[in-house]
Amino acid sequence: MSQINLLIFGDVVGKLGRKALAKKLPELKARYSPHLTIANAENLAHGRGLTESTLNELVEAGVDAFTSGQHVWENQQGAPLLSDEQWSKHLIRPGNVDPLLPGNSAMTFVVLGKPVTIANLQGRLFMSQESSSPFLSFDRIWQELSSDQAKPMVIIDFHAEATSEKQAFGHYVDGRASLVYGTHTHVPTADAKILPQGTAYCTDIGMVGLTDSVIGFEKNSSIKRFLEETTAPYELLSSGQAEVNGLAISLDIDSNRVLSLEQIREFVDI
Ligand SMILES: [Fe+2]
Ligand SMILES: [Fe+2]
Repeated sequence: MSQINLLIFGDVVGKLGRKALAKKLPELKARYSPHLTIANAENLAHGRGLTESTLNELVEAGVDAFTSGQHVWENQQGAPLLSDEQWSKHLIRPGNVDPLLPGNSAMTFVVLGKPVTIANLQGRLFMSQESSSPFLSFDRIWQELSSDQAKPMVIIDFHAEATSEKQAFGHYVDGRASLVYGTHTHVPTADAKILPQGTAYCTDIGMVGLTDSVIGFEKNSSIKRFLEETTAPYELLSSGQAEVNGLAISLDIDSNRVLSLEQIREFVDI
């Protein structure tokens, strides 16, 4: 039996998040032997969007592919990379948003001769960016892939705020996608499981970033925003304890079904 191993990380927040992932990745790769390592890059460059140098930092650390979310367009330097010929092969953004925005919403890698498609969709509840139905968008992705391949292996990064929307989405695609994992909240949920029809699911796999923080940002700068109802900028710290949250999954190459599923929650001092 051949299996495809994936190592997946949620939103990597700023420099501390990048350093934490780089420091922890060799050990995690030795433990899980991933064929592909994926991370969400929407908060890579000082918490807002990404740049070429911050992406390269993670590529050098061993990340192969990047998903993202609504913040990905916020860095003026980084947004054009979404349509760059090279980067767009392994950097995607949610597909169910304004179609005029740059970027691809899915990427396919051939692993051990098998195409593995990773797609990015965004939720609609409590999100600042308007989007069309992620449910119907998935149907379209599934239909397109099914017309090309007998049994497509599909992984979805569902970037969403509401746990209810994420759970409903997981059940909606159960038996079709091999894995649905949530990103965006930066807080891991302890619910990695296999749904009744075989799809692996986790509501949110959590972030890679500062532990003593508010979703990776300096806690007092966040409290100030709530207390004074301002939009003062979030601050980031460059040292401290970081948490590295993610998911390790092994999938059967023939059936696309889950062989093992494990949540990762590690801590590292930066
Ligand atoms: Fe995020
Ligand atoms: Fe987000």
